[in-house]
Amino acid sequence: MSKKRIGILTSGGDCPGLNAVIRGAVKSAATAGMDVVGFIKGYEGLVDPVQYIPLNQKNTTGILNRGGTILGSTNKGRFAATVGVSDRLELDPELLAGVKTTFEQLSIEGLICVGGDGSLAVAQQFHEYGLPVVGVPKTIDNDLSATAFTFGFDSAVACATDALDRLHTTAASHERIMVLEVMGRHAGWIALYAGIAGGGDVILIPEIPWTFDDVCQKILRRDREGKRFTLVVVAEGAHLPKGGMVTKDRREEDRQVRLGGIGAVVASEIESRLQRDTRVMVLGHLQRGGPPTTFDRVLATQFGSNAVRLISEKRFGEMVCYSPPAFDSVPILEAVNVLRRVDPNGPAVQSARSLGISLGAHPEQTTSNEIYSAANDTAELENVADEFEAVV
Ligand code: F6P
Repeated sequence: MSKKRIGILTSGGDCPGLNAVIRGAVKSAATAGMDVVGFIKGYEGLVDPVQYIPLNQKNTTGILNRGGTILGSTNKGRFAATVGVSDRLELDPELLAGVKTTFEQLSIEGLICVGGDGSLAVAQQFHEYGLPVVGVPKTIDNDLSATAFTFGFDSAVACATDALDRLHTTAASHERIMVLEVMGRHAGWIALYAGIAGGGDVILIPEIPWTFDDVCQKILRRDREGKRFTLVVVAEGAHLPKGGMVTKDRREEDRQVRLGGIGAVVASEIESRLQRDTRVMVLGHLQRGGPPTTFDRVLATQFGSNAVRLISEKRFGEMVCYSPPAFDSVPILEAVNVLRRVDPNGPAVQSARSLGISLGAHPEQTTSNEIYSAANDTAELENVADEFEAVV
């Protein structure tokens, strides 16, 4: 009897831990007596031209701690099943038919799709079309519902925390305000966790409204305490006080708009209001590169082996998830339809507030009289925001 053959692909923006998933799946498949092929550049490798490599224990040796993905990845490309967060875009029926042919020709009995919400939305449409797929949740933003953690998140937080540690010493030496912009499109998990871990004084996230007054009051309070330096952590997707996000370019068709620049807006406003030396640092894709942390290796490896288990149990259309201490699964549809965002009244935010971290929109802070003169000029503030709200 011929061996069962399964496929795996990595799709969307990369993150640390993708190779650990691949290795975990290949090893578990070998134990279960299955062959594995890896499709190249995400869904693109499935059709026209079909591109894949047979994966085995030999060619996946030594990849556990390697960043990126040995299979390559494509963000959207021809396989875009969503516009923005959740508006459905139907996949081209010809493309779907082509994928079906590939499955038949290569005798693929199950495909592991590793990706974030957009990529899993593609897997969902494959499932509806009758293709045997299972999902593995990936994103540094940790914003997929139905799993306590996505792999990549812990590594991104470790990177941002390391940056804060380094900014801390130079900020203290020069009595400066340091603004660190981190990733986090719809959710502020990276900013919140790194802010707590790295001793941030101000954390600005998309889920909690804030004002420049909040930020500057905190800096002044620290000054009075004799701490003449402040660390501000801001998520790239944090909303400006007057609304709107800071973007790098206009949205291309089928693509999400590129975020970035809010750190500069915040730094410039602090500097002009307080006349204090302020610097901004944008961490960017450093957060997505490099080796996964121990936690992400363990999580990703177990996701890989559990995905193989789902295939052997024929639980197609499901995504593996982590519900500590167990690994479980949920319908992919459930996972892609709801973003997991920071609860403004959740435990991490409450702890941060009890530590004195300013997150904005806090009654005790907004009623304070510590506002310096320029801060009262709301119109001026809005003008500054206006300038930057366009593409920077
Ligand atoms: O979704 C993960 C993420 O890293 C976001 O935090 C960020 O906005 C986006 O991807 C960046 O994508 P790209 O690498 O395509 O610029």
